[in-house]
Amino acid sequence: MKPFLFVTDLDHTLVGNDAALVELSQLLTRHRQEYGTKIVYATGRSPILYQELQAEKNLIEPDGLVLSVGTEIYLDGSDSPNSGWSEILSVGWDRELVLSVTKNFPELAMQPASEQRPFKVSFFLHQEVAASVLPKLKLELQKCELNIKLIYSSGIDLDIVPFNSDKGQAMQFLRQKWEFASERTVVCGDSGNDIALFAVGNERGIIVGNARPELLQWHNEYPADHRYLAKDFCAGGIIEGLFYFGFLE
Ligand code: GLC
Ligand code: MG
Repeated sequence: MKPFLFVTDLDHTLVGNDAALVELSQLLTRHRQEYGTKIVYATGRSPILYQELQAEKNLIEPDGLVLSVGTEIYLDGSDSPNSGWSEILSVGWDRELVLSVTKNFPELAMQPASEQRPFKVSFFLHQEVAASVLPKLKLELQKCELNIKLIYSSGIDLDIVPFNSDKGQAMQFLRQKWEFASERTVVCGDSGNDIALFAVGNERGIIVGNARPELLQWHNEYPADHRYLAKDFCAGGIIEGLFYFGFLE
């Protein structure tokens, strides 16, 4: 067996099927010990909300952490985000200017303070109005020549982040740093903010059986042989996919 780079979303992907999570944690821990496989969590959560989940679900310590939808990368258990990555993101990012535009959109409700991060501004936006609000918002932000990206997930969460940031680009940063080929890298997800993980290159992809419509719709529009749609839900679907691709035997 050879090492691989394992990158997974947390909510409703790694977490959400307790029995399968225990089994997967054991499989991954053993693979890491024996072959040097690396484990990365890529989540929309801030450090505070990540730590809550880590404690609650007893998640194994990752080798790398991608938090706040890819805008923060933490390595080797460090408390401060990787400065190389922050430098890349800071070019052209203007949080105040973003806020001056979004305040004109009453449909946008600010998420809690813990989820507002140096390179991430987050709102709740209801599904029913999202289709009409998002294009207008995008247009207004473009007028200010803001180099940003809108990421809408789960029919409620809207993240505004620097253009060159998302889970996919953060994953690539780690993949290149650790020198894993894309064929030896597997990414797992269930919702909108995971599309970037699947879309950025040709890493192997596992879409869990409980995936949200926005991800399934994207997958149907851009099908690919290196992506596997699992039948089982959450960690159960991940285990299925790891065997399908031969990362586990
Ligand atoms: C997590 C974060 C939230 C974000 C969402 C989608 O729930 O806490 O801020 O909007 O992920 O990325
Ligand atoms: Mg998720």
